[in-house]
Amino acid sequence: MSKTWTESELKNISESLEGKAPEEAIRWAVENFETKELSLACSLGAEDVVLVDMLVKIKPDARIFYLDTDLLFKETHEVLEKIKERYGVAPERYGAKRSLAEMEQEFGPELWKKAPDKCCDIRKMVPLAEALSNLRCWITGIRRDQAPTRANAPVVSWDAKFGLVKVNPLVKWTSKDVWDYITKNNVPYCTLHDKNFPSIGCEPCTRPVAPGEDPRAGRWAGFQKTECGLHK
Ligand code: ADX
Ligand code: SF4
Repeated sequence: MSKTWTESELKNISESLEGKAPEEAIRWAVENFETKELSLACSLGAEDVVLVDMLVKIKPDARIFYLDTDLLFKETHEVLEKIKERYGVAPERYGAKRSLAEMEQEFGPELWKKAPDKCCDIRKMVPLAEALSNLRCWITGIRRDQAPTRANAPVVSWDAKFGLVKVNPLVKWTSKDVWDYITKNNVPYCTLHDKNFPSIGCEPCTRPVAPGEDPRAGRWAGFQKTECGLHK
C-alpha cells in the first residue's frame, strides 16, 4: 500500500504544484499511488477528455471511471465509445442500485423535477461513494473559474467527505485552455459542446446556454441547486 499523507504534507505538495502544468499533478498522483488505488472521475465533458488524454499518455493502464445515471445524453455515450477506441481504455461504470422504473415506483415520476437532491443522491452520490470506496486517490476535472464554490479548490487535498486524496490538475485552467488542448491534441469530445452546452450532466437537468450566460446556467435551471454534491 502507498504512503499515508497528512493534510499538511498534502497542502505543501499542492502549493508546490500551483504554478506547474496539469501533467505534473497527474504525475505526482501516478508516482505516489498504486494503479489500483487511483482513478480518474470522467464525466466525458471537455475537461475530463483532456484529463484522459494527459493521464493515458503518462500511464496507459490508469484506471478511469464514470457515473452512469441512466439519464446521460446519447452524445455522452457516443464520446465514451470514441474515447475507448482512441485510447484503448475501459472506463469502469458505476450506476444506481435502483433502475429508473424502481425509482419512479418509489418516489413517483421525474424525481429530478420534484427533488433533484434526492435524485442526485440515488443516481450520483451513492455510486460515487461506491467508486471511491476502494481508492486512495481520485482525479477530477474541476476548475476554479467554473463556480464560486470551486474558486478555492486546491490542486491536491484531503477529501474529508469521501476519505481519500483528491487531485484537481486543471484548477488553474480556463475554458479556453481546455479547448486549446483539445484542438492541439485532437482529443475526441462530446458534440453537445458545439451546440451551446458548455457544462453537461444528465439530460433532464441540462439545457443549452444563451450567449453571455454563465456556462453553468444550463445545469439544474430553475432550481437553487448549483452542485450535485460530488465537490461540495
Ligand atoms: S457536477 O458536480 O456539476 O456534476 P461537473 O459536471 O462540473 O460536476 O464535473 C466536475 C467533475 O466531477 C468532473 O470533471 C469529473 O471529474 C466529476 N464528474 C462529474 N460528473 C461525473 C460523472 N458522471 N462521472 C464521473 N465523474 C464525474
Ligand atoms: Fe437526477 Fe438531474 Fe441529478 Fe441527474 S443531475 S441525478 S437527473 S437530479
